[in-house]
Amino acid sequence: MDTNRLSKKIEDILNSQVTKEADAAQVYLSYGCWADSKGYGGIANYFFRHSGEERDHMMKVMQYIMERGGEVKITAIKAPPKSPKNLQECFEKTFQHEVDNTTAIYDIVNLAHDEKDWATYNFAQWFVKEQIEEEKLVMDLLDKLKIAGGPKASDESLFNLDTYLGQAPDDAPLARDASVNKPE
Ligand code: FEO
Repeated sequence: MDTNRLSKKIEDILNSQVTKEADAAQVYLSYGCWADSKGYGGIANYFFRHSGEERDHMMKVMQYIMERGGEVKITAIKAPPKSPKNLQECFEKTFQHEVDNTTAIYDIVNLAHDEKDWATYNFAQWFVKEQIEEEKLVMDLLDKLKIAGGPKASDESLFNLDTYLGQAPDDAPLARDASVNKPE
């Protein structure tokens, strides 16, 4: 008796997401190492923590495939891209990475909707919310770098930014939780 509750297409797209999350973990690991080599220990810490979060995302998708009776396929992941030239490029590439991942999550949502696979549709909603947070966290990085002076940031403001990011929260407050007394 076949107990696989996932269609072939859904199983494939979920397996591809497992690889994407593992790939993101590898990219952020490389950015962390690059930041540390430039003396930004706090920013390195930020990327190392974030790399761990991507592994958690990978684990969630992997577990979901197994929970539904599907087959997980662990494949090779690419080598990370070249090191960024500077912090601005590092944060911009991180933002683009997250936007691309959001597109991949939406592809899962769209396919689940088309197939009326409401279990996968429901599962993917966690990732829709998570991507709002992930994008916001990186937008905040770019904002903070801009306030620090962008390409003309002084050593002192970069030192402060690095110290801040070493201890920054891993979660971003979302609009849905805002109120008049607690706007963020
Ligand atoms: Fe797994 Fe950064 O999204």
